[in-house]
Amino acid sequence: MKQPTSISELKNHVGREVTLSGWIHHSRPGGKICFIVLRDGTGFCQLVVEKNEQTASFYDDIKRLSQESSLEVTGTVHADERATGGFEVRVTHANVIHAARDYPITPKSHGIDFLMRHRHLWFRSQRPWNVLRIRATVVDQIRRFFNDNGYVLIDTPIFAPAAGEGAQTLFKVDYFGDPVYLAQTGQLYLEAACMAHRKVYCFGPTFRAEKSKTRRHLTEFWMVEPEIAFASLDDVIAVAEDFVCSLVERVLRDHSDELTALGRDLSELEAIKKPFYRLRYDQCVELLHSSKARELLENDLVAKQARISELGAKIDELDTLVKSDAAQWKKDKAAGEVIELREDRVELQEQMGNIPHHIELAKNFEWGGDLGGSDETIISRLHDRPVFCTHYPKGVKAFYMRECRDDARVVENFDLLAPQGVGEIIGGSAREEDYDRLLARIEHEHLPQADYEWYLDLRRFGSVPHGGFGLGVERTVAWICGVKHIRETIPYPRMMGKFYP
Ligand code: 4AD
Repeated sequence: MKQPTSISELKNHVGREVTLSGWIHHSRPGGKICFIVLRDGTGFCQLVVEKNEQTASFYDDIKRLSQESSLEVTGTVHADERATGGFEVRVTHANVIHAARDYPITPKSHGIDFLMRHRHLWFRSQRPWNVLRIRATVVDQIRRFFNDNGYVLIDTPIFAPAAGEGAQTLFKVDYFGDPVYLAQTGQLYLEAACMAHRKVYCFGPTFRAEKSKTRRHLTEFWMVEPEIAFASLDDVIAVAEDFVCSLVERVLRDHSDELTALGRDLSELEAIKKPFYRLRYDQCVELLHSSKARELLENDLVAKQARISELGAKIDELDTLVKSDAAQWKKDKAAGEVIELREDRVELQEQMGNIPHHIELAKNFEWGGDLGGSDETIISRLHDRPVFCTHYPKGVKAFYMRECRDDARVVENFDLLAPQGVGEIIGGSAREEDYDRLLARIEHEHLPQADYEWYLDLRRFGSVPHGGFGLGVERTVAWICGVKHIRETIPYPRMMGKFYP
């Protein structure tokens, strides 16, 4: 057999004979003609096998093959807008490699828990395929952006002797009898490296013992962190802005098909242009107290209620179909949809139940508190481009953040909130470069000074203003793809109580 052609290359082979190798995504067998959607890892395309003299030797075998069977086929390529992927291959020869049986993920829908337990197989479905390709491009663009802009890659350790962020999210590991912790950040090590290379970055897995089961939290996620010497807060914010624009542009350039298949509104991504909004924490508090915030949530309540009623009617309709004597495939499809719609309804009911609480939280938000997930959602939904929220109260932020010199109550930090209610995707700051101030913060936080002696050295020898940020890959991919929960944006998600497979 000829070397297989990739489905992604079929556009260059219209009218010609090709050989494809792949798996049956789904199949519609008939007495005289069989339609198969084949996937080969690079794309999806329709195969048409007609029963005739040429195909007689394999037609019945092909017809019996079920989902995820693997095979090689030869045939001619025809452009056909109606076909999955835009091309159809009319098969003249086929070779079955492996006949699969009872593949657990059928075309009818399954609940998310089932899919997550079958993550190793769920990869093959179209939605994860789209999301993980986009993730791969985001990762590539992250490296390109920093490599092309003069940053030196510094790989920071995963075993860390002390906390880099809050002590409450540390994973403790026995290191030959000594306690060490899985890295929550590479930042402190990068600060040392930027005094050698000026502009540096690290990019790797990051660990937080998050006891929250929210759509934004994983216990293992990927974070990229740049760190720049001789930089002010504004300088760091400018880099973050360019960086985020470059990620969105690249995904739009390379993956508009995948984004469309995921139902993402491309115009929302096309609107991601400089300058992003900037709000000081004080302004965020005002916004939370404003009638705009209240109206947003009250309207939400009404909209969600209406959607729940709509879903209820749809579920009843499908349930009637399931109990009818309609064709079995129609009933299976309807039963699958019902599972999905019920899940949506439970989620909406949960969200609706939380709205009154979120209204109260926003209304009663007091200066000095950290912005919670629901507060971020409000701020982010009231903006069509990302928002930099800056100058948070010192008490809610990490010890290393630079104290604002004209208002000692706040630090020179920022969180970048992505729009459409996604919330924080970046946290960053200028770092405290003054030895005495930093030491005072370490003491105030009751951190063991001995663990931070090396870090204090950076302020003893040629200390300079510097700063950086961390961008979470999964939250960014979730935002770009329009995926609600970040568990879908990492190949094997790790969350509280979830680490299989
Ligand atoms: O705001 P964070 O905690 O910042 C830091 O770790 C700094 N040391 C970064 C720096 O300045 N070099 O985390 C940065 C980003 C968040 O905005 C979020 O995108 C992601 O990391 N992140 C998480 N993503 C998934 N699950 C979690 N539990 C996350 N915690 C943080």
